[in-house]
Amino acid sequence: MNGGIDVHSVSLTRMEIDLDALLHNYREIVKHVAPAQVVPVVKSEAYGHGAVPIARALQEEGCRHMAVAMVDEGIQLRRAGIKGEIMILGVTLPEQFSAMAEHRLTPSLGETENIALWARTAQERGEKLPYHLKVDVGLGRLGFLPDKAERALSAALSTADRLVLRGIHSHLSHPEGTLEHNARELARYESFCRPFLAHFPDVARHLAASQAVLRHPHMYFDLVRVGGLLYGFDYGVPTPMNLRPVLTYKTRVGQVKTIPAGWGIGYDLERVVDKPTTLALLPLGWSDGVGSTHVGKASFLVGGEFAPLVGICTDFAMLDVSNIAGVQKGDEVVLVGRQGPREQKVIELARAGGISTSQLLGRAALRVPRVFFRDGRQVDELSILA
Ligand SMILES: Cc1ncc(COP(=O)(O)O)c(C=O)c1O
Repeated sequence: MNGGIDVHSVSLTRMEIDLDALLHNYREIVKHVAPAQVVPVVKSEAYGHGAVPIARALQEEGCRHMAVAMVDEGIQLRRAGIKGEIMILGVTLPEQFSAMAEHRLTPSLGETENIALWARTAQERGEKLPYHLKVDVGLGRLGFLPDKAERALSAALSTADRLVLRGIHSHLSHPEGTLEHNARELARYESFCRPFLAHFPDVARHLAASQAVLRHPHMYFDLVRVGGLLYGFDYGVPTPMNLRPVLTYKTRVGQVKTIPAGWGIGYDLERVVDKPTTLALLPLGWSDGVGSTHVGKASFLVGGEFAPLVGICTDFAMLDVSNIAGVQKGDEVVLVGRQGPREQKVIELARAGGISTSQLLGRAALRVPRVFFRDGRQVDELSILA
């Protein structure tokens, strides 16, 4: 219940988050990558699952190190009582440095100028501040190019009285790609790290995210940063880890009707049917993660069967239920999760629309309540009604 409003009757579309599955996955990954340690990636609202309840559950489980992309996300977690190291993986600009220090956030620095300015912030505050160095091994994103290792090292050495270098990290551009490609990026990473090891023997090296955890055990180093695996995304790679899906995404049928041959579905004459077609109208649309690229490609579960998505607008989606008997107003529809014997995985729904899981879940607006369960009981809720 939420201010007297029961989300189960008011919110027709919702996501259910199984915190037991999340913690089970966390323990599985911890065991699998040991002695490397796991840094859960809870950026972008924990990939749309809801950052604060996810981070709190992980903290209760003993997790003392998490990563987000933006400074704002780090402050959000601090305000919610997250105590351990919060690493900022994304861009930080000097005007954010005092807020970052105030909230004990750890930046990823990829330019000598920012190392000097972070050291100045430390000096002004009269305390040592932590940071990680970021290397770009082929993604064309944040970080030092590998041949700038000596410059980065002299910046690290000259600020070692004010800063603590916690780690050196990078992110692979194509971990699913060829062994040669990944060996090249690994070599770039190692060549950057090498000169640091003599001076900073305790520095943590970290390169692997979910796909590398599945495919490249020789890249675990000291820490692995995992998002997708933690949320139980099934990348189709065999693994001894027994990971469970965390998310169920559901809605309800709002109207059922049969349109005649020649009738349109959706804007811009997106589709015109050539025979009478029974539609189930759903209360969700572009704003809720599923996009126009899903039309004609994705299906949702209703009445225990997959029904093709044939139209979408901002707030409506239309399923063709002509081949499913007895679909009625109010029936449950499952976008992600199980219904009867059938299941749709989040990765399958994302791929059907040609997008990534983070795109799918990240763009699902907060008007879709996230309802959190533990031991089969609702324990938390994120909702615009909260
Ligand atoms: C720098 C960095 N590390 C780790 C991750 C986690 O990736 P994954 O969800 O594939 O585990 C991301 C996600 O994009 C990232 O940008």
